[in-house]
Parts: sequence; C-alpha cells; structure tokens
Amino acid sequence: MLKGKHIVLGISGGIAAYKTATLLRLLVKAGAEVQVVMTPNAKEFITPVTMSALSGKPVVSEFFTANTGEWHSHVDLGLWADAMIIAPATASTIAKMANGVADNMLITTYLSAKAPVFVAPAMDLDMMRHPSTVRNLELLRSYGNHIIEPAEGELASHLVGKGRMEEPENIAKVLDSFFDCQQSLKGKKVLITAGPTYEKIDPVRFIGNYSSGKMGYAIADCAAARGADVTLVSGPVSIKPQHPSVNVISVESAKEMLQACLSHFAESDIAVMTAAVADYAPAEVLDRKIKREKDSLGTINLVKNPDIAATLGAEKRPGQLLVGFALETDHEFENAVDKLRRKNLDMIVLNSLRVPGAGFRTDTNQISICYPDGNRTDFPLKSKTEVAGDIIDAITCLCEKA
Ligand code: PMT
Repeated sequence: MLKGKHIVLGISGGIAAYKTATLLRLLVKAGAEVQVVMTPNAKEFITPVTMSALSGKPVVSEFFTANTGEWHSHVDLGLWADAMIIAPATASTIAKMANGVADNMLITTYLSAKAPVFVAPAMDLDMMRHPSTVRNLELLRSYGNHIIEPAEGELASHLVGKGRMEEPENIAKVLDSFFDCQQSLKGKKVLITAGPTYEKIDPVRFIGNYSSGKMGYAIADCAAARGADVTLVSGPVSIKPQHPSVNVISVESAKEMLQACLSHFAESDIAVMTAAVADYAPAEVLDRKIKREKDSLGTINLVKNPDIAATLGAEKRPGQLLVGFALETDHEFENAVDKLRRKNLDMIVLNSLRVPGAGFRTDTNQISICYPDGNRTDFPLKSKTEVAGDIIDAITCLCEKA
C-alpha cells in the first residue's frame, strides 16, 4: 500500500537516527517516494549523503541553500506529503511540535503538513516519563498525530526501560497498514464500548474492575482511521482516543452504558462490545459514607446488572453486526462460543487471562476470533493497536459477506 505514496521522513538528533537508513530503505523498497528532512542535530548522527543516496533526493535541512540562495518551501513539502513520519522524535523536537516552535525546517514542515503525521519518540527512560514529555505527547495526540510508542529495552545510556525507537520494520508496517486500512469503513456507523463500569456502593466506594480501556480505544481509533463514524461509550478510564473524530460518551455504571448504547444502536451498522461490564451492582446505594465504627454492614447485597451485549443482540436487525468479547480464565473456547450464541453475536473475540501479556491493562493482547459456524482464527501476541487492526479486518470481511 506504500506504492506511489509521498512520504516526508523527518529525522531529529538522537542516536536512533542511525536506524532511519533502514526505515528509508524499507519505504523506498515498498514503492514510496520519500523526502528526507533533517534537523541540524540529526546530521551529527547520520549523514545527509547516506539519506540522499537512499532516497534518491537531496536532503532538506536548511531553509535555503547557502551558495545558490535556493529556497526550500516547507509549505510545498507539507502539501506534497501523503504522510509525514518523524523518527526519531527527540524530547526537544516533540516539545517544539507540541508548542509550534518553528525554528528549523522539520518543524515548519510539520506545521504545514496537511497529511497524517506519525511520531516515533526515542529518548532515555527518564526523559520519556518526565511530565513535560508526557504532556507534550498528549498534546500531539490531541492534534490527531499518531504516536508510535517506543519499545522497552536497553537504551543508549545502558539503562533499561521505555524509550527505544520502534524498529524500522514495525514503523514501516504501521504506515503500510495505515494506507491499507484507509476508508474501508467509510459510511459505516460504529458503536464501541470500552473500559470498566463502576457500580456505586456509597459516595466514596464502588465495585469496578481492572479494564484500562486500551483495547476498546484502539478499536475505536482503528475504525475511525478507516473512515467510520465512531461513537465510543466509555466507562471511567484515564486515556483519550488518538483519532480526533471519535465521539466519546462517558458513563460510569452498566445501566448508564446500556442507556447510551440503546440511544445509538438503532442507527449503527456495527457494534463492538469491548467493555468489561460489572455483572452485579449493589442492591442499595448509600447516600453517605459507610463508617467502619458506626455501621455494622458486613455484607453488600448485589443485584444482576443488565447484559448490554445480550440486550443489543435481541434488538439486532438484519444487516447489523454485533461483535462481543469474552474474557476467560478457564474453558476458554467453550465459554466464548456459549456467549456468542446466547448473546446473538456475529463474532466473538476471546482473550484469556491465562496468557501473559493478554487482557487487562497491558499494551498487548492475544486473541482468537470465533464465528457462529464454529470457525476460528488464532492470532499471536501483538500490540493492542495491531490487535485492533486484526479485529477491524475481520469485521470488514463480515461486512463484505453480508
Ligand atoms: O481495557 P483493557 O485494559 O485494554 O482490557 C481489555 C479487556 C480485557 C477488558 C477486553 O479485551 C475484554 O476482554 N473485554 C470484555 C470483558 C468482559 O467483560 O468479558 P465477559 O466475558 O465478561 O463478557 C462477554 C461480553 O458481554 C463482552 O463483550 C462484554 O462487553 C459483554 N457484557 C458483559 C456483561 C454485561 N453485563 N454486559 C455486557 O455487555
């Protein structure tokens, strides 16, 4: 899918810049036309000669060529690009991008870019987790930029932690699947649930679970990137969608989640139930804090919550697709298939808490997709972003068959 695409590869000054020769080679091999833009510091880590030889184009670094006075238009470059990737993106470059500090050709091109922007941070672990970097990355996400999370591992400082630029092969794959996926869900309305539900006990306590929302938000971002009109009904989480067009409806309890889903399901073409909905809620919610000394409350009486997926399954009309998740700890496949049938789902995504790196809170997941006809596809452990891509691929296939 990279064939014929115009890509601006922005390189800033970090040790990971040496890996961009491989990235450039991969992009060019896949048929992309690549214009390299380097910050002055980047040239200390990899030479413009290498990059211009690999790209077949002179590298742009300054606003004009000193000996000829030739002006390099960042505006033209920004308009030419089908995508811009900044790799490695150092803490300084990320801060400049977040705050519009246009003091080099890379930043002016970034500010002029109309195309999607991908950012592959690389820095030491302490810089990575500094509140200013965290906030700047958050700002970039809010501008709709795609952050390609750095990996964990040994860093240039020999410290071990998060901060290694993602491998060039994976960055190239992210770009490839971005172009591959574009617009396959155009015109579709997709309803997604994500995160936990909180069931109130009293004003300070609730029954909840460990869901972070990462899986559901990744599915929402992927569906939106493929052109869908996405409504994300989310329980309490601390993350935000990366795609600017995702419409988030924040809820707390299962009952609120059900109401929000019922308001949107009729107009939806596809619904994906990723939320970890509490199956039970306290029968009574106290309006004052339970006091250890005064109250002799030893037990909390629970009542069953509504089953949102099953309710939508009962209302489903021909042509609508309903996708569920099954989070299991034992008898995984039997339980998943049982849920698929009971809830009238068209497909169920099984993840097991017995698999290390799968399920709640992790950045990775390992899934199997099960269908009503007994067919099943097993996938290896992948990042939740990639898993979301696999799930949306499977949904797109079902849509094409419907
Ligand atoms: O959020 P993360 O930290 O990234 O974690 C992701 C995840 C583990 C929460 C996600 O991958 C997942 O497995 N979600 C479903 C969790 C769950 O509640 O599974 P379940 O097997 O209990 O429920 C089966 C299906 O019915 C699910 O689609 C669920 O959304 C739905 N359900 C369950 C109970 C209920 N009362 N109403 C429902 O709609």
